[in-house]
Amino acid sequence: MKNLLLILLIISVSAEAQPLLRIDNFNGIYAPGDTTHYPLYIPAIVSPSALTLTAAQGTSKLGGGNISTSWTYNNSLPGPTILANRGDSVSVLLRNNLAQPSIIHWHGMLVNTENDGHPKFAIASGSSYQYNYRIKNRAALNWYHPHPDGLTGEQVFNGLAGGFIIRDAEEAVLNLPSGNYEIPLVLRDATLDNNGNIKYAASGGGMFGREPLVNGTLRPYLNVERAVYRFRVLCGTNARVFNLTLTEGISFKLIGNDGGLLPISSNQTQITMSSGERLDILIDFRTVANGTNILMRDANADWELLQFRVNSASVINYTGNLSPTSVVVPLANPDTTRTFSFDAMSKINGREYEMDRIDWTARFNHVEKWVFISNGNGPHMAHVHGASFQVISRTGGRNQVFAWETGWKDVVLVNDNETVSVLVKFDEYAGEYLMHCHNLEHEDMGMMANFLVVDHPFTWIGITSTDWFNASNWSGGKVPGANDDVVIAAGYPNALVIPAGTSATCRSLVANPGVTVTVSSNAHLNILH
Ligand code: C2O
Ligand code: CU
Ligand code: CU
Repeated sequence: MKNLLLILLIISVSAEAQPLLRIDNFNGIYAPGDTTHYPLYIPAIVSPSALTLTAAQGTSKLGGGNISTSWTYNNSLPGPTILANRGDSVSVLLRNNLAQPSIIHWHGMLVNTENDGHPKFAIASGSSYQYNYRIKNRAALNWYHPHPDGLTGEQVFNGLAGGFIIRDAEEAVLNLPSGNYEIPLVLRDATLDNNGNIKYAASGGGMFGREPLVNGTLRPYLNVERAVYRFRVLCGTNARVFNLTLTEGISFKLIGNDGGLLPISSNQTQITMSSGERLDILIDFRTVANGTNILMRDANADWELLQFRVNSASVINYTGNLSPTSVVVPLANPDTTRTFSFDAMSKINGREYEMDRIDWTARFNHVEKWVFISNGNGPHMAHVHGASFQVISRTGGRNQVFAWETGWKDVVLVNDNETVSVLVKFDEYAGEYLMHCHNLEHEDMGMMANFLVVDHPFTWIGITSTDWFNASNWSGGKVPGANDDVVIAAGYPNALVIPAGTSATCRSLVANPGVTVTVSSNAHLNILH
């Protein structure tokens, strides 16, 4: 039935689709059992220094002349690959030409609250949002995608997501494959409706598409030379977990993940990848006979994801590092432990997300231990904004930390019956950030929380303003403003309680030793520092 519908679809769109064809071997129709492959789409590379990203409804080319309606950044699915160096300035204007609110989140990037794409910054249809920040991250593949409250799953599934590659000096000396030998792979699943259009149908358990797309291409192939390639892989699914394998006895050389290069690289024959996770892998095709086809497969769904066609008589010399190592200083000695239970499909610690509620306050520049527990309905993918973390243990379930979970992470897979502990230190910005399940339907239903990173609340760091603030009198006295540095002076009561229902912004907050700051539920303290 499905094949028949696809045939009808091709006939109905072929006249219009003709000028858009970029496929060399499209034979006009799908036949049952057709194994035609289409060339892998590689999104354009752009600089973020003066970039406009327009989110709009349009169409995209899935391969073979198949056109799907989709929602894209700059008419590309996935969106253009942003490329920049650590230290560069980012200036991106988001234009929202969708019919619903949106905002971009720079997943994995260390940015302040105003640039992080918190859903409270979502802009209406027809509006724009200007991002300005400096790249603090080490070399890594990050990604950008929408983050409006309750609409993230629909917008990502319809096509809004793209890669953001950062380079740095540490990486440069390794001389890793680049140019035509460095390929981004955005893996995802999709469901096409009877007209061949990407069809989002939310379900509580998560949106599982019926077939894979790599870089937006159906059944893609990539011609490769007998050379070493670097693949920058992003799992851009809403909910699906892939278990990547290669055929022909080829293995992955795993060199990096979410937060950049790993302390040691290793050979892997299968790698688990869940929503939001990234991999940096080398594949050495030099010893593969010319004419061989190698498949990248997903062993979970038993899917073929990508066909590599080894297509060069001669072997391409490689002088780069085949087994890079990197320095990742381990976090240690947490002074706070927080436990987060992912409950049902919409709650963390029993509560659904509320945009204006701060759920806890983390301390700037202190190591904390966060423990993620699945309370059923997994898998859940624990994701933290504002910092990368280090996975220290997994107990229950798979009972181990895998090689691809070492180094710096920002998403970790928590299957049912698993408890995963991580260490995290927010040492770049104070401000408001999110922790959520990266199953986007779980996120949209409320499996998300706001937390505040509070800048040195217990340490005297000097007075930067003479605007002393009476901590005992928050609501009755002066309420600070965006230009105020709040100092809780010695001699005032030893606790600052920000009352429920209050909202305030200040530039920084400094308290004397021994002073505790408590943000009541439903109160809101935004520290801009
Ligand atoms: Cu990729 Cu808050 O998400
Ligand atoms: Cu994120
Ligand atoms: Cu979840």
